[in-house]
Amino acid sequence: MEFLIKSGNAEKQRTACLVVGVFESRKLSPAAKAIDKISDKFISNTIRRGDIEGKPGQSLLLYNVPGLLADRLLLIGCGKEREINDNQYRNIVANAINQLINTGATEAVNYLPEINVKNRDYYWKIRQAVQTIESNLYEFNEFKTKNKASRKKLKKLILAAPTRKELNSGERALQHAVGISKGMKLTRDLANRPANVCTPTHLANQAKELGKTYKSIKVKIMNEEEMAKLNMNTLLSVARGSREPAKLITMEYKGGKAGSKPYVLVGKGVTFDTGGISIKPAAAMDEMKYDMCGAASVFGTLVAAAEIGLPINITGVVPATENMPGGRATKPGDIIKSMSGQTVEILNTDAEGRLILCDALTYSERFNPATVIDIATLTGACIVALGSHASGLMSNHNPLAKDILNAGETTGDRAWQLPIWDDYDKLINSPFADMQNIGGREAGTITAACFLGRFTKKFHWAHLDIAGTAWITGKKKGATGRPVPLLVQYLLDKSK
Ligand code: BES
Ligand code: MN
Ligand code: ZN
Repeated sequence: MEFLIKSGNAEKQRTACLVVGVFESRKLSPAAKAIDKISDKFISNTIRRGDIEGKPGQSLLLYNVPGLLADRLLLIGCGKEREINDNQYRNIVANAINQLINTGATEAVNYLPEINVKNRDYYWKIRQAVQTIESNLYEFNEFKTKNKASRKKLKKLILAAPTRKELNSGERALQHAVGISKGMKLTRDLANRPANVCTPTHLANQAKELGKTYKSIKVKIMNEEEMAKLNMNTLLSVARGSREPAKLITMEYKGGKAGSKPYVLVGKGVTFDTGGISIKPAAAMDEMKYDMCGAASVFGTLVAAAEIGLPINITGVVPATENMPGGRATKPGDIIKSMSGQTVEILNTDAEGRLILCDALTYSERFNPATVIDIATLTGACIVALGSHASGLMSNHNPLAKDILNAGETTGDRAWQLPIWDDYDKLINSPFADMQNIGGREAGTITAACFLGRFTKKFHWAHLDIAGTAWITGKKKGATGRPVPLLVQYLLDKSK
């Protein structure tokens, strides 16, 4: 979709479709009022017949509005004018775009960003509108041989600015939103690809592509031999059961001063998680192709950073492997020495994410990071605790946790913090090694984080468990692109 920011009166727009808001009960937005005035009360007369009251989710498409230069007028229900919050605003924008793409209009002028959202400015409204629209229009058709993409007529959307004063912040919001949307699309495409296509080697090739596309991104791929030289044994212990070779992908985005500390993002890249010898039950096992969503979010965040041109340095680290059973696979009870030198008794081969992340986190020390954030579909327990609305957040540095929580609130891609007290950490002590890779039945999300916490003593670190937020199950199954909006917002805030 092509987006433009423009100021100007609604009633004077020559366009295929004008989009304006109507509040409960039958109250007109400023743009709707202006049109009502020049059309001899056409809108208020129509509304009085009862076809739309202004409730959220409602819409009404009108033709031949007297005095209007636009071919169509789309009224969108916005709810109670005084109470519009972040979520309601996004729903209003989504409703409008879903109606709009069902019309024959090839372009439209949208006045919804004029409505007041509690505590939000014009920049925010444009950012959210564009991200919501791009996210709603996303489709994954790479593997359909017929009806590949649904043909959408709408090509160009103009977003209205109340006055010329807002044009600057609107342009900036648009540029940021387009960059974030591009990143989210890559994240979703990588995640939605099946595991027979999206292998560790595929991820490595995608990284190389990014290196070619963006001069600001430098890529390095390590193979298993090179990992062995660095003693990344817990990472390699997960890869042992698979025929697909593991890769350690490093992507360095240099937008900041040479020598300024990078923000390091570590993404779990298990391209398929069978559970290994501790094999998973069959139900919904296909969804374990999504066990690389953390990795995909690192790719997407780097694309967004490069598109926006963030003036900071960011390093993405992606340990990529399959988790398979096999004749050489790691067995429950095996003890492995990690890159850090600490030993791990592997009691359950299905708790593999932490095993690849711990070596990747140790590896991250060499970048002298400003902060390290790992992103992982780490525990089913996180879905039990938080459902699909919030990502789980755990951190060894409270200011960093606060920054991440705030970034989530700003973008609507929210996280919720869980404690990682010593009381929980004890649960992963092992009788035979320095630690074991699972706790008990209790607090599975937290004990997983405590495990990672034993490898992150040397820097400020946060862990995002995205098991519940990275993809949607059921009829609309698909990757969400989360937590790219949160991560980019965190980095935008750090760029100030
Ligand atoms: N990738 C899974 C976690 C997961 C499961 C995410 C379902 C989303 C949906 C992870 O590797 C895993 O299997 N974790 C185990 C840990 C357990 C063995 C301690 C889990 O959550 O059951
Ligand atoms: Mn697993
Ligand atoms: Zn997993």
